Amino acid sequence: MANGQFSIVALTTSNSDAYTWRLPGARLNLQTRIGDARQLVRNLEEAKLDAILYADFVSGSSDAARWARIPPFDFDPLILAAVAAEETSALGIIPTLSTTWDEPYRVAREILSLDHFSGGRVGWNAVTSISTTAPSAFGAEGLPPHATRYERADEFIDIVKSLWSSFAADSRVEDRDRGIFNDIGRIVETHRSGKHFTIDAILGQEASVQGRPVIVQAGSSADGIEVGGKYADAVFVGKDQQSEAAEVRAGLQAVARSHGRPYAPRALSSFYFVIGSTQEEADRLEDQIDELTPIEERVAVFSKYFGDDAPRIDLDDLDAPIPDFPETTEVQQTALAFYRRVAAERPYSVREFLRRTRGRYFFRFTGTPEQAADTLVDWHRSGAADGFVLNPKADPFGQLTRFAQHVVPILQERGVFRRDYSGATLRDHLGIAELD
Ligand SMILES: Cc1cc2nc3c(=O)[nH]c(=O)nc-3n(C[C@H](O)[C@H](O)[C@H](O)COP(=O)(O)O)c2cc1C
Repeated sequence: MANGQFSIVALTTSNSDAYTWRLPGARLNLQTRIGDARQLVRNLEEAKLDAILYADFVSGSSDAARWARIPPFDFDPLILAAVAAEETSALGIIPTLSTTWDEPYRVAREILSLDHFSGGRVGWNAVTSISTTAPSAFGAEGLPPHATRYERADEFIDIVKSLWSSFAADSRVEDRDRGIFNDIGRIVETHRSGKHFTIDAILGQEASVQGRPVIVQAGSSADGIEVGGKYADAVFVGKDQQSEAAEVRAGLQAVARSHGRPYAPRALSSFYFVIGSTQEEADRLEDQIDELTPIEERVAVFSKYFGDDAPRIDLDDLDAPIPDFPETTEVQQTALAFYRRVAAERPYSVREFLRRTRGRYFFRFTGTPEQAADTLVDWHRSGAADGFVLNPKADPFGQLTRFAQHVVPILQERGVFRRDYSGATLRDHLGIAELD
């Protein structure tokens, strides 16, 4: 990556599209959707984006009434990633796999397999998972406490990293006469006995051509910064203000230093957006999406992050004052910090609060391609971010394609985004030259 340039990763998730099926012209046929998923990665590669991220909340809703309102397009991220690897030749690919609901050996094996078959283009979004519907899908009593999830994540990622180093890059000797394929001194066994995992294993795959698949983390709480700073190559930062994003970035750098790492994770800030050819068109689209989303869903957006700690809201009285938010939560601390800050601005009613926050705790943008480019350049120059995660508010295929075709050329023109890939691996795209 050239000096002064930034990274861009495009995010898709089956959840974000839930109510856009009601927009006129929405593409609902299953085969059409599958075709769009294939076309999307080709569009992103054409625009030279760093990667696509397949976000995942592990299990869908267990509420049949909700499924009655939305299309069931809840595809598995690893499968989407494998398809993307076949559709493209340079784009990075980052599936999400949960440190709470998955197992380290399986994750290490799946991600490294995909990495080899894609030529070193894969990353793993290691999330502790905030879904409160996952526990019942996995036969668990409830979501484990926040600190326990991060403690498990710490052990989990350490094991995965070790398994990915089972064979040193120079382990092959291929001595046919002696029948020795690998130098035994270059094979590393993984032995761990921790609170959450006990493992004795060797992963039977040679080292990745990019040294190791890229590790991504996406929580910005104190625990999230600790785990991200210790292990991640990149962190997705979900903050709505430059100063807060810059603080998380500095926090990650400090943690990385304290662990003696030779580099800090790249901080990629969330950009939650609606782009239109004019401001009016973008505003209209955002209004339309909000109107099509049932009120219980819009309220759920700011309560789902808190589980049982969520404030009780009367859906029939949206003019009532917004209830107090809890001080902390076992579910999603980054979102709670945002909602508490906004609630303290002034005494909002529920209706006003919904309007003010409009669906996400991330930085939110509604406007034209020119304005989007200005905004990203400004965030990057201010030192708040090393790059961005594009999170379309709705219509991921349409909005990400619009970004790729209308915003990227402006960024290229300004010299802040590549015109072509300069390397072959995801690590190359992200500009991570070293390996720790
Ligand atoms: C860009 C971005 C993508 C994320 N993707 C996921 C995801 O796919 N699945 C998930 O469970 N959480 C996802 N998260 C949430 C975080 O991974 C993390 O689990 C959550 O923020 C809880 O941790 P915290 O309390 O440290 O914030 C994402 C967050 C951001 C900013």
